[in-house]
Amino acid sequence: MKATEIRKAFLEFFRDRGHTVVKSSSLIPHDDPTLLFTNAGMVQFKRSFLGEEKRPYSRAASSQKCMRAGGKHNDLENVGRTARHHTFFEMLGNFSFGDYFKRDAVECAWAFLTDRMGLPKDKLYATVHEGDATMHLGPDEEAKGFWARYLPQDRILEFPTKDNFWAMGDTGPCGPCSEIIIDQGEKMGCGGPDCKPGCDCDRYLELWNLVFMQFNRKEDGSLEPLPKPSIDTGMGLERIAAVKQGVPSNYDTDLFSPMMSRIEELTGYRYGSYGEKDVSVKVIADHSRAAAFLINDGVLPGNEGRGYVLRRVIRRALRHGRFLGLDRPFLHDMAVAVMTSMEDAYPELLESKSFITRVILHEEERFNETLDFGLKLLQSEVRRLQDEGEKSIPGSLIFKLYDT
Ligand code: ALA
Repeated sequence: MKATEIRKAFLEFFRDRGHTVVKSSSLIPHDDPTLLFTNAGMVQFKRSFLGEEKRPYSRAASSQKCMRAGGKHNDLENVGRTARHHTFFEMLGNFSFGDYFKRDAVECAWAFLTDRMGLPKDKLYATVHEGDATMHLGPDEEAKGFWARYLPQDRILEFPTKDNFWAMGDTGPCGPCSEIIIDQGEKMGCGGPDCKPGCDCDRYLELWNLVFMQFNRKEDGSLEPLPKPSIDTGMGLERIAAVKQGVPSNYDTDLFSPMMSRIEELTGYRYGSYGEKDVSVKVIADHSRAAAFLINDGVLPGNEGRGYVLRRVIRRALRHGRFLGLDRPFLHDMAVAVMTSMEDAYPELLESKSFITRVILHEEERFNETLDFGLKLLQSEVRRLQDEGEKSIPGSLIFKLYDT
């Protein structure tokens, strides 16, 4: 099943269950100064959860463009190192604004994964919040009870607040959550004695997060009950695509294959032959998507805020390009692969092709000049030190070069 078909199947599944399918909002949360980027599907519905906005529907579903670099949810450093982290990704989600609550959220998620996607029931686990005295919350027996209709007791696990309490930011809607995990088998595991659901490796993959939205976190940290208990869920399209397509990493799905092939063509390197180089290939594939989508949503490279995150993402991709022997501009070319591969769901990217590629190319040229200049400076300083009989480089020199 192609990723496009999974996205469609998800939205249709929830449409059939009375949800209004809502288009993804921009990566820039225009009316929310508390966030750098849209980091989850619920962001565009924040005011509905808080009871400040009445929509003509009380159930919604979406496939939302998300960015998790900078800000509270930040996956930048993990990208390329795991099979599952991204800066830019799409989140499939269903939402209830004071309509259904835990029972239906659990029932829908189970039906979609097992009936519609055909995932093996015996490989699935569910986690629930173990409770937290500081929030006056006991263990989530209710969610446990709903999961017990589908899963044996030993595959329903209690997790603490740090894993199973979700908040969009320092303030705003939040609540205890329940995650669905799939065991991808020993071959995907770290082999450690403590490798079990919750382990950071890729074996026990967190597939879907069901948040039982109950509170609004205020600036002083206190939790105020929402007007009505609500539901916010999120499942990474890239993750469910990897599971459904039976591949070991999101980067092996059809969502990424056009970018992976393009890097192979540009570098002559075969993905899968060498660990560190594979990291670079994955970073470039991920960051080219982030750059194309951010620019299309109006972000330009700059020295602060969103522009700075975009600049970092582009520069990081270029540095990884250099590890693969690419010292000429290439990322604008990668962005075209992104646009073409996303044409079905996001035709607007191709419509802005010339603008997006120009912005990236300009940034590439600037950075390459800076990098070449810095490397020359470093070489001449090293030569000078050698001439003076020095055997090591003083830290102050590194800082001086870094500043230039
Ligand atoms: N908003 C929840 C998350 O991002 C579903 O995990």
